[in-house]
Amino acid sequence: MIIYASRTGNVRYIVQKLGLPAKDIADVDKIDAPYLLFTYTDGLGSVPPIVDQFMTANYNQCKGIIVSGNRNFGHAFFGRAGDLLATKYGIPLIEKLELRGTLSNYETIKNYYYSIWKEV
Ligand SMILES: Cc1cc2nc3c(=O)[nH]c(=O)nc-3n(C[C@H](O)[C@H](O)[C@H](O)COP(=O)(O)O)c2cc1C
Repeated sequence: MIIYASRTGNVRYIVQKLGLPAKDIADVDKIDAPYLLFTYTDGLGSVPPIVDQFMTANYNQCKGIIVSGNRNFGHAFFGRAGDLLATKYGIPLIEKLELRGTLSNYETIKNYYYSIWKEV
């Protein structure tokens, strides 16, 4: 399962392309099964509040983080939401991609997804 946050549609677009089981973070309060988190990056490289709140309640089942950002915001801030969450909770950052990313990004995500769900 991928739990995703998307404000302007890029992350939602990618999730649809991946074709993996997914739920909008706005529709989930508590999840008791392993999942990957896919978030966008907010201003000054911050974690979107809805994601922050969700992770406080659900970080323990999160097996990996995927982040979308935009390099125009500068190297230090690019996709930083993913770095912040990975560091805070000690969860692997699987992929950092720009806007809607590339097919190569999608392959990396899918490979990780399948490797995790073979184990659990
Ligand atoms: C107000 C605003 C602030 C943003 N700040 C950053 C930022 O600091 N770093 C970054 O990498 N991307 C930043 N972005 C870019 C988004 O993270 C990026 O466009 C992402 O693909 C959006 O995903 P979504 O369309 O699913 O919401 C910002 C976008 C907006 C609209």
